Amino acid sequence: MRAEDPRTIRLDEYRPSDFLIDTVELDVRLDPTATRVTARLAIRPNPEGRADAALTLVGDGLNLVAASIDGADLRPDDLDVSPDQLKLANPPRGPFELTITTIVDPSANTRLMGLYRSNGAYCTQCEAEGFRRITYFLDRPDVLAVYTTRIEGSKAENPVLLSNGNLAETGDLGDDRHFAVWHDPHPKPSYLFALVAGDLGVVEDEFVTMSGREVALKVFVEHGKEDRATHAMESIKASMRWDEQAFGREYDLDVFMVVAVSYFNMGAMENKGLNVFNDKYVLASPETATDGDYANIEAIIAHEYFHNWTGNRITCRDWFQLCLKEGLTVFRDQEFTSDMRSRPVKRIQDVRNLRSIQFAEDAGPLAHAVRPNAYAEINNFYTPTIYEKGAEVIRMLKTWIGGDAFRAGMDLYFERHDGQACTIEQFIACFAEVSGRDFAQFLRWYAQAGTPVVTIRTTHDAEAKTFTIEATQKTPATPGQPSKQPMVIPLALGLVGQDGDDLPLVVDGAPAGPVFALTDETTRIVFEDIATRPAASLFRNFSAPVKVVSDVTDEELLFLAAHDRDPFNRWQATQTVALRKLVADVAAFRAVRPISPEPKLAEAIGRAFDPAETDCAYAAQIAALPAEGDVAREIGENVDPDAIHAVRSLLKADIRDRLAGPLAAAADRLAETGPYSPDAASAGRRALKYAALDLLSAGGAAEGVERVFALYKSARNMTDKVMALHALSIHATPEREEALTDFATLYSRDPLLLDKWFVIQASAPLPDTLDRVEALMAAPGFDMRNPNRVRSLIGAFGSGNPTQFNRADGRGYAFIAGVVAELNTLNPQVAARLLGAFRTWRSLEPERRARAETALRALAAMPDLSPDVADIVNRALG
Ligand code: ARG
Ligand code: ZN
Repeated sequence: MRAEDPRTIRLDEYRPSDFLIDTVELDVRLDPTATRVTARLAIRPNPEGRADAALTLVGDGLNLVAASIDGADLRPDDLDVSPDQLKLANPPRGPFELTITTIVDPSANTRLMGLYRSNGAYCTQCEAEGFRRITYFLDRPDVLAVYTTRIEGSKAENPVLLSNGNLAETGDLGDDRHFAVWHDPHPKPSYLFALVAGDLGVVEDEFVTMSGREVALKVFVEHGKEDRATHAMESIKASMRWDEQAFGREYDLDVFMVVAVSYFNMGAMENKGLNVFNDKYVLASPETATDGDYANIEAIIAHEYFHNWTGNRITCRDWFQLCLKEGLTVFRDQEFTSDMRSRPVKRIQDVRNLRSIQFAEDAGPLAHAVRPNAYAEINNFYTPTIYEKGAEVIRMLKTWIGGDAFRAGMDLYFERHDGQACTIEQFIACFAEVSGRDFAQFLRWYAQAGTPVVTIRTTHDAEAKTFTIEATQKTPATPGQPSKQPMVIPLALGLVGQDGDDLPLVVDGAPAGPVFALTDETTRIVFEDIATRPAASLFRNFSAPVKVVSDVTDEELLFLAAHDRDPFNRWQATQTVALRKLVADVAAFRAVRPISPEPKLAEAIGRAFDPAETDCAYAAQIAALPAEGDVAREIGENVDPDAIHAVRSLLKADIRDRLAGPLAAAADRLAETGPYSPDAASAGRRALKYAALDLLSAGGAAEGVERVFALYKSARNMTDKVMALHALSIHATPEREEALTDFATLYSRDPLLLDKWFVIQASAPLPDTLDRVEALMAAPGFDMRNPNRVRSLIGAFGSGNPTQFNRADGRGYAFIAGVVAELNTLNPQVAARLLGAFRTWRSLEPERRARAETALRALAAMPDLSPDVADIVNRALG
């Protein structure tokens, strides 16, 4: 964070609000361009605030019509008003009622924060600071109020009128006007407020909670899409049941509603009782959704529902504590998915995702702590570090103190802090109390950015029969944090003997482990009674979010790949061998030296396609090589994305040549027979089939391409169709063009399917990709105002296409920077997100790095840069 930025907000400058707001009565008269919002606020001085303070309510681009205190109109000179603030120098020193009327224009709101329109419907997004675009307010998460919301509007245009809480009253006003009053009894911060109005279809169901209360469930979608809402509805019920069983948490209103909207800046939002979703994460049918869509919907419905306790009932004191709700809720949704589907597969997917996105962030100029201590624009901190690393920190905490203590700590947290706005310290104190442990050092996980590197040296002493593990931890410097202190790193391990079984772990003459806490810069663990050198299975189940550098040999890793009883490390062993090879191959390739063949790796991957392997989803993970980004990060500096792509393609072709028979057999064996079902086992079989086809078509091999094309043509569900199209799109073949044209003809009228077609073309590692992306931006269906379209076409190119974004001529950088410049005023949040493509620019080889820097500097020089974009540009250039 640049110290000179005047907007910078600091954690250590936190002060309690000088005023509190106990109740909010909102009266919203809907109008497409002039919606009238009257807010009646019951305000009183905060005993913990300053006694003589002025009252400053924040706004964002607001237009004040009237204001009064206790019924008496305020005249312009009683007030200090601008679009961004409403200030009363001398407010009453006791409780009073402030009434404010503002007019907002939802149709002109292209930023999609506050009240806006999505395909004709009205909806809101208030997290983090959108409520101030609706009315002047103490728009901060530690001001909790009880809301009553009256919505009035045209009956024909808005038959559906929704807000948080329970429905209190409805009425017909004649002349096509009607109203609804919603009352939410649970005090909440303004970021959890929501309002939705429009002409929507609804799917209804019911849930009976563990104490026997009946809850009405409603999923609102555009008319005609009701049959695509059933999976979301099933996911709501599964989530409610799971939170009761896993955490003892029950739902607390008469109704739980989900609304799907097509214009949305993010995935979804946990507004109390009224979750608003990007429709991409609600709508699914076998004809329109892939296995991945089904899984995402289930996980995101769960995530938002789980926020009801971790986020809503207990919220954050300030935005620095964002991980208090996000990291914890991601952890909870990961556990939910693990229980609903395959636990090892979920863990592997989460770790792949963590490494590719969060480790990349942590290694570049945008690195920040899980709890940052300063920010210029809070919307830029909804990051993989806050979410995914935040979840890893919770997982480590659980690994460190054990499952029972973890549950006891959660129970205490819910009991002690219900209804409060909390800090990380208050959360951690609950676990310290139940476990009796000292968390002072553990808290560094929240404060220190960067991925710790743990270097492991192993030695076997045959005479003494000891096996020694020496672990040294070092966290690299990150922006603003030149030196780091040792963390508490839980190391879960096993020592695998020659028969493939775990050896007993004995330390100092007593049974020990399997979790060891590494707390010092260097920790030595001496295992006794070890006659022959074992294979060390380190960081089982990925017990800490660290990068491991170990002297465990490829031979030992391949042994673990076959025998480790920890499924995560069986997968990891193969990945490590592959990653080591890819890094060595890139060096050879760039030095124009021959690349060595690797039959053993092919053998390990070949096990995935053995007919005896019954867990197909797991096997598909074994079969997938590390991504190009993983190789780039491992190389770390002077990165040439083209060399990585070339070498990885060669390795795939080499593996295909060695496994041609088993791959073809697997593709045949796994061909779809019965009707489509999105369940985890069926999805796993399909995933393994695609892994086989992907290898078979490596390098554009004719026989493989033919097979994939046949699958494309015969596909009877969207997963097969999209996966085949994706596999075809990687190679410049006539089949590719035929399939892309066919897909557009069949599906381009459905925006979510158009998005899939965009993503596939934008991520193709082909030299004409950028030309195509530019052409598609001008073609029908693309809409710069719709974030899903922008993310699918432009986001996928920037963040999902390493070779073409990093074109040697720099056109990829200039293109993304150009789109960011265009979106800068239209939708700054989406613009700032696109810029994330530059998060690894410093690790590139010098010529690309210079071109990336030129593009960033051009942006930085633009006048009227939004705070969102300016913040990312400044930090990226740092
Ligand atoms: N709280 C939402 C969630 O469940 C995300 C809100 C994102 N807000 C933002 N300004 N980016 O993850
Ligand atoms: Zn969340």
